[in-house]
Amino acid sequence: MRLGGGEKRLEAQRSKGKLTVWERIEYFFDEETFEEVGGFIEHRCSNFGLDKSKAAGDGVVTGFGLVNGQLVYMAAQDFTVLGGSLGEMHGRKIANIMDMAIANGAPMVTLNDSGGARIQEGIGALCGYGEIFFRNTKASGVIPQISVIMGPCAGGAVYSPGITDFVAMVDDTSYMFITGPDVIKTVTGEEVTKDTLGGGDVHLKKSGVATYVGADDESTLDWVKVLLSYIPANNDAYPDRTPSKEPQLDAKELESFVPSNPNKAYDILGVIDRLVDTGSFFELQDKFAANIVIGFARIDGISVGIVANNPKHLAGCMDVDASDKAARFVRFCDAFNIPLVTLVDVPGFLPGTDQEYNGIIRHGAKLLYAYSEATVPKLTVIMRKSYGGAYICMCSKHLGADMVVAWPGSEIAVMGPKGAVNVIFRKDIAEAEDKNLRAKELETEYSEKFANPQMAASLGYIDNVIEPAETRGTLIRYLKSHLGKEQITPRRKHGNIPL
Ligand code: HXC
Repeated sequence: MRLGGGEKRLEAQRSKGKLTVWERIEYFFDEETFEEVGGFIEHRCSNFGLDKSKAAGDGVVTGFGLVNGQLVYMAAQDFTVLGGSLGEMHGRKIANIMDMAIANGAPMVTLNDSGGARIQEGIGALCGYGEIFFRNTKASGVIPQISVIMGPCAGGAVYSPGITDFVAMVDDTSYMFITGPDVIKTVTGEEVTKDTLGGGDVHLKKSGVATYVGADDESTLDWVKVLLSYIPANNDAYPDRTPSKEPQLDAKELESFVPSNPNKAYDILGVIDRLVDTGSFFELQDKFAANIVIGFARIDGISVGIVANNPKHLAGCMDVDASDKAARFVRFCDAFNIPLVTLVDVPGFLPGTDQEYNGIIRHGAKLLYAYSEATVPKLTVIMRKSYGGAYICMCSKHLGADMVVAWPGSEIAVMGPKGAVNVIFRKDIAEAEDKNLRAKELETEYSEKFANPQMAASLGYIDNVIEPAETRGTLIRYLKSHLGKEQITPRRKHGNIPL
């Protein structure tokens, strides 16, 4: 049964640098824990001589097993059987294992390696996809869903990964696109390769579809195993707590690491590494919208979701892609009981026609919505500057943050000094003898007014002003005191998040 499409095709698979479907399964699951489901199922189509090409399992292996002791369900396509194409029975097998994953409250991992809809089966194939998309949607927010693209994933097939929570791809051997290079050439005349159209690099850096791209099958599956260690089995469960690991980097360095001049850049990763348990930061989508950083980490062994502006890229401004990236992550954490820690150093939303034309209003609103809707513990640290709408949307008190702390030099204002002075003192500056000097004076006055968190704290929008070195300890205390948080929301069918 494990021969799939036969030795020759298995060898062809290996020659492309890919593992075979059973090698992948054996690599992924704890030894001898995988139980196959529906291994004898065959297709029942005789169109175009398909009755002469049958293989037990119909090109997909489904089942469940343990990953580091945790129950996980899987559907793994076998490219050696009819190109891993999805027909009626193949689709039915995937739908069945998804139903089992939902019923038993365990993560669903899909290994995609397929030529797409099985052309000979017509409606049988389309129906198979439709049933999977339906279940992907029903399972969303109930069990974690992870897609691993380990070969072709083309046409409508991309929409199952498109709905799932995380998409990992294998570099060089996988690609995802709605229409392939040949169709594009015929329709528009544009010439592209599979890789430049939908390879790992494209989806990691440009489209934001991929959460991670691994060098080969093994390292990509390893990444999925680490991901699973941060997240719970379902929406009624909590992530495992591990022993605390104090950061090796000195927290006292935070003060000098973050330059006091608000216009100076630094890499937020250096801050995160000084706050979370050693080596625990697991960044997601690191090459997409790098102006915001998202990922899981552990603080005192508690799994948390980190959302942080990164002044190293675009000065840490919010833009269309950063809003989308952060909003989806916030919603995942909220659905799966993972507390949110937000680190703020943001000059505002990126100005300009490019952002406006691309719908920064619509996209920025997603992050506001996601944070407002989230009922998990929400802790916010304002490190340096926090201006305007971006201040509000980076999990401020106004969006329901449970605890907000600020470092002593942080600024909270409607906008930065230069812009503000030009608006409110335009006349004053125009009438001055030395306009530059007057503008500078007014900027200093404005900065002195807002260059500390005093006003926000006196109004109760900041709960405490702490030294940078105290941040980890404060977060640990706040996390522990909020783990039992419960928030009842009014009955409704669902909200209407701006999409
Ligand atoms: C039936 C398929 C198939 C398919 C591949 N095969 N795709 N059979 N339906 N969709 C078969 C091939 O005929 C071949 O059979 C075997 O699988 C291996 O395929 P090769 O072409 O030899 O492999 P390779 O050279 O590696 O090329 C892989 C490929 C190519 C790029 C994926 O097979 C391809 O372009 N396939 C068609 C892709 C496609 O257009 N799919 C439909 C997308 S639309 P033999 O017997 O010769 O070994 C879609 C709609 C979904 O999916 C809608 C849902 C809403």
